[in-house]
Amino acid sequence: MTTVSAVETRPFGEALKDAQRLVSDYAMDCLAGDDLLLEAMRYAIIGGKMLRGFLVLESARLHGVDQAAALRAALAIECIHAYSLVHDDLPCMDDDDLRRGQPTVHRKFGEDLAVLAGDALQTLAFELLAHPETGPHAIRLIRGLAQDAGKDGMVSGQMLDMAAESASEPLTLDQITKLQSRKTGCLIAWSATAGAVLAGADERPLRQFADALGLAFQIADDILDVEGDESKVGKRVQKDAVAGKATFVSLLGLDGAKTRAHELADTACDALGVYGDGAETLKAAARFVISRDS
Ligand code: IPE
Ligand code: IPE
Ligand code: MG
Ligand code: MG
Ligand code: MG
Repeated sequence: MTTVSAVETRPFGEALKDAQRLVSDYAMDCLAGDDLLLEAMRYAIIGGKMLRGFLVLESARLHGVDQAAALRAALAIECIHAYSLVHDDLPCMDDDDLRRGQPTVHRKFGEDLAVLAGDALQTLAFELLAHPETGPHAIRLIRGLAQDAGKDGMVSGQMLDMAAESASEPLTLDQITKLQSRKTGCLIAWSATAGAVLAGADERPLRQFADALGLAFQIADDILDVEGDESKVGKRVQKDAVAGKATFVSLLGLDGAKTRAHELADTACDALGVYGDGAETLKAAARFVISRDS
């Protein structure tokens, strides 16, 4: 098979830690200052797995993209993700007190500041991508993020999720798949394809990878809600069952959900053939996503 890249691979654990360090340090630089809004934004962005930032950096590495541009895109997606979680945890949404093992942003800073910190994280993402040195494909990346984060993407998924809570019938597997592909899948797909988009390369293999990965990720989230240990997961567990929500676990059963997650991780890995050995780190990410305990 012809490969499009001969980039060296690194152990996944090491690559993820590097991504966490690089993105966190850069976030601290961009958000330096002692006003309370900046403090709340820093608090919101730190402490996650930074899987989306990792996917950006790794897909950029596969395509030889300029590292500074890749880092801005990695921070941009972590800003959007953090904003989505800050708003998701608000009393008017999921009303959660615990996130990443710490009090949620509104519990620590108040609801008003949590709303504003989320708003400012969202606009910061677009400011980062609109940097003059993002390169000739910046506009595709920016437009893609607006779509994947907005009314046809993450926000639409959140809306479907809210509607599902008060629906008279539990959702079907097709409906849950659509909901989750928007709520969780769109931002993961943007992240995993960002490197190809920045390089102006064919993004289809990474999109296929990401579509399977995003679904596997959400199934793992649903499994963790049932089986996870709150002290490791860092957020409240057993929420879905208490809310009477249809999830992949409630529809497929625990074993069925685990089997499906494994199949999806295999599908994700199979999509990366074109990258040859260079894609081993991304393949390990797919295995991590379904075996994680947080
Ligand atoms: C949690 O995402 C929200 C979902 C989309 C299921 P992550 O599990 O990636 O959260 P962090 O960023 O590591 O805290
Ligand atoms: C949140 O989904 C996903 C987004 C913020 C887009 P959930 O409500 O299932 O996530 P957790 O379980 O609170 O992390
Ligand atoms: Mg929610
Ligand atoms: Mg939630
Ligand atoms: Mg969840």
